[in-house]
Amino acid sequence: MSSDIKARIIKQVAPDLALVEKALEENLDPNLDLVRKIASHLLFSGGKRLRPLLMIHSARICGYDTGFEILFSIIFEYLHAATLLHDDVVDEADMRRGKRAAHTKWPAPQVVLTGDFLLARALAIAAKTCEPRVISVIAKITQAMSQGEIDQLEQKGKKDLSETQYLEIIEGKTAVLIQGACQSGGIIAKASPKKEAALASCGYHLGMAFQMADDLLDYTATAQELGKNPGADMREGKLTLPLIHSLAQANDADREWMHGVMAETDFEQDRFEALREKMFGLGGIAYTQTRAQHHVTQAKASLEIFEDSDSKALLQLIADYSIERKV
Ligand code: IPE
Ligand code: IPE
Ligand code: MG
Ligand code: MG
Repeated sequence: MSSDIKARIIKQVAPDLALVEKALEENLDPNLDLVRKIASHLLFSGGKRLRPLLMIHSARICGYDTGFEILFSIIFEYLHAATLLHDDVVDEADMRRGKRAAHTKWPAPQVVLTGDFLLARALAIAAKTCEPRVISVIAKITQAMSQGEIDQLEQKGKKDLSETQYLEIIEGKTAVLIQGACQSGGIIAKASPKKEAALASCGYHLGMAFQMADDLLDYTATAQELGKNPGADMREGKLTLPLIHSLAQANDADREWMHGVMAETDFEQDRFEALREKMFGLGGIAYTQTRAQHHVTQAKASLEIFEDSDSKALLQLIADYSIERKV
């Protein structure tokens, strides 16, 4: 099922993807070779380009067809790449997109500053839209993301996190960026307020589903599938919905045992497997899947006001893919 959705998406977006790749290379424009090396290490290592695709087709669903949507879409990949460079430093993550995380190859300060450079490139391209509201959206995204990441850091290592706190964190660190990509497509297309709000809503729900799927994959996928190590969230002391719900459902003995595994900084693979089995048994995996599916349904419902078009069909497919994906 998922590979079928992926194949259908790729078939439809292959020409856009080629143009996005070219625009990402041509607009990087650093003076320093080191900045190019660090930025390219992450940028050209096989990301899904989900955010640019969402921006492009959010513009086209509103009738935008100047061709500039390709250039404007890379705002959201540069922004995403900036946050990934920062995130891997913050999370002390070793792998990203199947390769060594940038800060394991170059010093962290240089990597963080390259992230800032990418953010500045995103802003420079955003200025070319001549739409101040796109800049406002980017400001909102960077405010939400930095605070979402800080909020998560503050909660790190705690034994308990409420579902509400979790939802606030993932809204800030992930959903607001995807929401902004979709909304900005509407803004450059000068869509009606109703259509722009519908796109923002679609992006928000897609983003929530997308992060829940990411948090599920951390327990259910292999390192090869993921391009980063599974179990990383727990190793990083990060409580996500599958575990939060499992803990809430557990009896005292199970909860104590789970807290014991969580407290081990370097747990063995068999301990992780046992915890994963426990989480399946307690319904944490199924519950998270249901919550993610609910957001996918909402994302697709937000698109109902648009007439049928290739872009609408694609956005609907991407919504399904956000939780069916293996990567
Ligand atoms: C990774 O995003 C970070 C999250 C918000 C979960 P993606 O899964 O879109 O990463 P790439 O760009 O395809 O590598
Ligand atoms: C999502 O955070 C990525 C950003 C907000 C930049 P995570 O820390 O959960 O994502 P991964 O697992 O590193 O991709
Ligand atoms: Mg991370
Ligand atoms: Mg993180």
